[in-house]
Amino acid sequence: MRILPSLNAQPNEYRERRDKYLSFLLNKLKKQIEEGSDKPCITGNILKDPEAKLNEMEIKSICLTMVSAGLDTVPGNLIMGIAYLSSEHGQEIQKRAYDEIMKVYPDGDAWEKCIIEEKVPYVTAFVREVLRFFTVIPICLPRTSIKDIKYEEAVIPAGTTFYMNAWAADFDESHFKSAHEFSIERYLDNPEGSGTPHYAYGAGSRMCAGSHLANRELYTAFIRLITAFHIDPPKEAKDRSILDALECNAIPTGLTTDPKPFKCGFRARDLASLERWMAESEERTKDLAASNFNQKLIHASSEPNARGIKTTAAVGF
Ligand code: HEM
Repeated sequence: MRILPSLNAQPNEYRERRDKYLSFLLNKLKKQIEEGSDKPCITGNILKDPEAKLNEMEIKSICLTMVSAGLDTVPGNLIMGIAYLSSEHGQEIQKRAYDEIMKVYPDGDAWEKCIIEEKVPYVTAFVREVLRFFTVIPICLPRTSIKDIKYEEAVIPAGTTFYMNAWAADFDESHFKSAHEFSIERYLDNPEGSGTPHYAYGAGSRMCAGSHLANRELYTAFIRLITAFHIDPPKEAKDRSILDALECNAIPTGLTTDPKPFKCGFRARDLASLERWMAESEERTKDLAASNFNQKLIHASSEPNARGIKTTAAVGF
């Protein structure tokens, strides 16, 4: 694209569109700060901090990273987690997960409490196993060495590009017992801090900077899904999901796994509670959805993408 930019105009068009909405959102926040009507957020803290030394371009770049880094990765895990739950083994997992959730939240308040606390170790372990088993960035991000590295008899010169094969690490039998089995148990007696739980977030000083946020998002989403629904297998065998980290990927040349389509059923456990939770979530986020801009964004995201698939983001906490 850099060498022959005229070959494809789309990336530039997308960048312009992206810059437009980033500027719109940043200006909106600045105005709210002036009026004192802003809600607490990281960008607001930076803008208000007189000692913060970030210029506007840097702030925009951080905002963009925060949004784009989770765009494929979190949904990839969410979709493959749902795929697994819709399998035969997934039915057993759902039953145990639901029982564990009900033990902690017998009064039916898991839906709201999961945002502020993480108290169901079985679901935390499920999230970890989804992350390991589907390793949605199988070869991590390219990294360049900044100095010569001696490896056995060879010297790898500075400036060499490295890829870490996270998928291979996650299926390494010397590290993970029965690595090809989906086993939540492997994480149940493995408290945080006892080594690298998996390599889905990479490793080392440049590992994923958003891992804690992503863990919380996935935990919250699965607690809510399992609390609200039975996830059923598809009616026809041909619609089953592919439960292999590499085979499930529709675009193997992509950086991130793009799950192949499959079907499953969502059966509400208790429709009245579900409707109440949805209404409460909508009420809590009505300020976010009210602006005309958001309506436009939702509209834009409903347009079919290159593969003819319509995606509409619905966010509600
Ligand atoms: C389940 C979701 C996610 C997965 C599986 C994931 C995975 C990864 C991986 C494999 C890397 C490369 C690590 C390496 O080279 O060793 C990475 C880097 C990164 N991720 Fe994530 N990520 C996720 C969500 C997020 C989110 C939500 C954010 C931000 C809010 C984020 C921010 C970043 C950033 C800033 C880097 C670059 C770190 C650096 O270069 O120092 N990620 N992520």
